[in-house]
Amino acid sequence: MRGAIGRGDVSVADTGAEQSPIRTLGILGAGRLGGVIAQLAASAGLRVLISASGDPRLIAGRAASLGAEPAPRESVIAESDAVLLALPLAKFRMLLPESFRGKLVIDAMNYWWASDGIRDEFSDPRTSTSELVQQHFLGARVVKALSHMGYHDMADDARPAGAADRKAIALAGDEASDIALVSSLIDALGFDPVPAGPLAAGIALEPGAEAFGADVDAEQLREMVDGFWDSQRGIIVARARAESAH
Ligand SMILES: NC(=O)c1ccc[n+]([C@@H]2O[C@H](COP(=O)([O-])OP(=O)(O)OC[C@H]3O[C@@H](n4cnc5c(N)ncnc54)[C@H](OP(=O)(O)O)[C@@H]3O)[C@@H](O)[C@H]2O)c1
Repeated sequence: MRGAIGRGDVSVADTGAEQSPIRTLGILGAGRLGGVIAQLAASAGLRVLISASGDPRLIAGRAASLGAEPAPRESVIAESDAVLLALPLAKFRMLLPESFRGKLVIDAMNYWWASDGIRDEFSDPRTSTSELVQQHFLGARVVKALSHMGYHDMADDARPAGAADRKAIALAGDEASDIALVSSLIDALGFDPVPAGPLAAGIALEPGAEAFGADVDAEQLREMVDGFWDSQRGIIVARARAESAH
């Protein structure tokens, strides 16, 4: 079953969005964000495997309504071209890094103290949270993406490529080839990709940055991302990083 997403019955799949080389998307986390991305990806013709924290049978109905297949976590990881992390940030170290070796990992997680608890390492200006995720999944390639837009906006605002009111989603990663892959996925889901630099620069997409929560077009998002370094948070980040380099 395909999920229909987008205002006015716009179906991204029907309107010629670029096909992503990522043909099977694995999603860990079947909550608000994981659910919307699953539905958008299924709508774009991708095979979607999804897992929450428990037995896959517990989410069988939800997965079916999203157009996704419920699967054990290990199968989601092993069978996917890319694995999206859509679980609370405080939980990522529960995932065994060995099973992610060689995988493209899309980190959509943010530090949200109300659900993650107070964790100073997640707000340390010297390190983006995606760098911590990359340090954990050493043998994998992490790209931060699909993290700054609220799930409702994502569900409502997916549009085919070229639509006048298309919104943008920023991404950050260290390898140009991975940025290209995840950009193609973002495009297929219904958004313009806006590269924001390496994983360390992903801090410009985190809570506290102007781009966090942004539901704007590519030009506006590019301005927000570039303007981060002139913002109060950006200045704190730059200063802390300069000091730790000495
Ligand atoms: N909500 C948004 O608009 C939004 C937008 C951008 C980014 N994000 C980020 O996306 C992440 C998820 O947010 P959310 O709002 O979707 O949360 P949510 O609705 O609470 O869903 C969290 C999901 O993660 C699953 N989960 C927990 N531990 C897991 C594990 N060890 N392995 C696999 N799945 C696990 C939960 O499964 P169980 O129910 O079985 O525990 C649940 O399906 C957060 O890091 C958030 O910052 C959210």
